[in-house]
Amino acid sequence: METMFERLRRLRSSDTIRRMVRETQLSVNDLIYPVFVVEGENIKEEVPSMPGVYHFSLDRLDEEIEAVRSLHIPAIIVFGVPRHKDALGSEAYAEQGIVQRAIRQVKEQAPDLVVIADTCLCQYTDHGHCGIVEDGQVKNDPSLELLVKTAVSQARAGADVIAPSNMMDGFVYAIRHGLDEAGYEHVPIMSYAVKYASAFYGPFRDAAHSAPQFGDRKTYQMDPANRLEALREAQADIEQGADMLMVKPAMAYMDVIRELKDRFPYPLAAYNVSGEYAMIKAAAQNGWINEQEVVLELLTGLKRAGADLILTYFAKDVAKWLGGKHNASF
Ligand code: PBG
Repeated sequence: METMFERLRRLRSSDTIRRMVRETQLSVNDLIYPVFVVEGENIKEEVPSMPGVYHFSLDRLDEEIEAVRSLHIPAIIVFGVPRHKDALGSEAYAEQGIVQRAIRQVKEQAPDLVVIADTCLCQYTDHGHCGIVEDGQVKNDPSLELLVKTAVSQARAGADVIAPSNMMDGFVYAIRHGLDEAGYEHVPIMSYAVKYASAFYGPFRDAAHSAPQFGDRKTYQMDPANRLEALREAQADIEQGADMLMVKPAMAYMDVIRELKDRFPYPLAAYNVSGEYAMIKAAAQNGWINEQEVVLELLTGLKRAGADLILTYFAKDVAKWLGGKHNASF
């Protein structure tokens, strides 16, 4: 009998055949794990709104790095929480700053682990903004100089990749130039090219003590309503020398991920941010969703949308679920 419809179920009939026709593979190679470092001693303190995520003092960091390494996660991104904050965020570019010390220590312990440095000022400024504030306004061009100093000091400490997240105009240009002049022309830039002014960053700001003390970040981070502007942000950063692009947050912006991937032939990262993590954790802790299945589905969805790399607080869990093997995939 001739049927008038396509039998799509034929290729779903067993796990093995599903595995054969699966279009998207999530691999441990895709993962980047965010790590928070704080000053002080003997600190391993859980972030209240991010269960399973900790602040580490440097003397307690080894264990975490060893865990990441043994799970074959290729990279971490380091966020510093300094003790001292001031108007110019001077600890962001201090030779003995918390991030600079952390990078040196991690590279010594695990030379093969790729260490990405987040280049921003908001954790380091007393006003909590990502640039210099004058007359209640975040000034663009004067901030670039401090961001360049920060990036160069991170590269000098041994950072393998610089990831500027500050959303000042021209930041990739300035940082590329500054790195080249300082002899770090080989260090790539992963630009937070498309970073929205998002409520999903809430738990991170608790974790990093980086909430703005007045106003918000809407004069520099993007309006969540905008798609075409995201393309211009990405284009600008590529022209200025970005090697990799990022979209942040991830879940509410999968259309933007797809569009960037279709238009720009560059490695693309998606940042599965703190609020996304907290929502899943909270629901899972209540027994309302299956954490493992939801997380693997979400991250596979991000890859299907076009992300090559995923920054996620779930990285260690995912690596375990995938079997902890180099090329394990879901
Ligand atoms: C620093 C920075 C932020 C995040 C990463 N880098 C916070 C912000 O812009 O307020 C957020 C990460 C997350 O929410 O997981 N500018």
